[in-house]
Amino acid sequence: MNIPNQPDGRSDNHDNSHDNSHSGDCEHGHGDTHPEAVQFDRKYWESHWSERGEERDLPVNPYLPLETADLPVGSALDAGCGEGTEAMWLADRGWQVTGVDISATALAVAERRSVARGLDADIAWVGTDITRWHPARTWDLVVSSYAHAEIGQLALYRLLSNFVAPGGQLLIVGHLLTETDHGHPVGVTVLPEDIAELFTGMGWTVEASYRHIRTVWPGDQPVQLQDAVVRVRSRG
Ligand SMILES: C[S@@+](CC[C@H](N)C(=O)[O-])C[C@H]1O[C@@H](n2cnc3c(N)ncnc32)[C@H](O)[C@@H]1O
Repeated sequence: MNIPNQPDGRSDNHDNSHDNSHSGDCEHGHGDTHPEAVQFDRKYWESHWSERGEERDLPVNPYLPLETADLPVGSALDAGCGEGTEAMWLADRGWQVTGVDISATALAVAERRSVARGLDADIAWVGTDITRWHPARTWDLVVSSYAHAEIGQLALYRLLSNFVAPGGQLLIVGHLLTETDHGHPVGVTVLPEDIAELFTGMGWTVEASYRHIRTVWPGDQPVQLQDAVVRVRSRG
């Protein structure tokens, strides 16, 4: 997956490339009457996934191949993995993956897909609320694309950093906070600078921090995605 004009000059990169790639598959803000009133709890996500209708086999989130290209293969956690696209992409490339999601419905699809692709031995699917989870281990890579939980974005990212092994990486893809409405409740949007600041001078190195705009075609209509992308490395 290529993001045109991406690797250099990442900051403020407004790329209106038309691709059919990963939309986050969670267009909750689009059409919600009172999006700020939405509570992103288990009930919300269960109905989100069970009412979604036809399954869509989406391409991987384009920032995942871009940001992991130079990383040694190891263990990976996909936090808020949904139907498992990114977890399976990683497993397909040799990573030993744990996919965690609060929605049993999404995980059932993920598991079925991983079995169909012969990847089930390389992925452990865990149905839990990640904000109440206490795994007795860490991972070389923790990824989270468009996940948002009740605790808020920065609190979620801080929590996810606890799951990174010494020397490991945390890759965050979020919905960008902008002055213009792009269909996502403000409370689930974030600035890459604010994510990066969480990790500045705290035993982490910020390896990437940028915003990026792209147009995806999840169905017949284009959807513009404005993304915040941050990758940090634990100094161990
Ligand atoms: C917008 S979807 C993104 C799914 C997938 N990562 C993607 O990029 O398509 C957010 C996902 O986070 C999950 N999620 C939300 N809160 C969670 C929590 N507290 N613990 C675990 N998963 C959670 C939801 O069930 C949903 O699958």
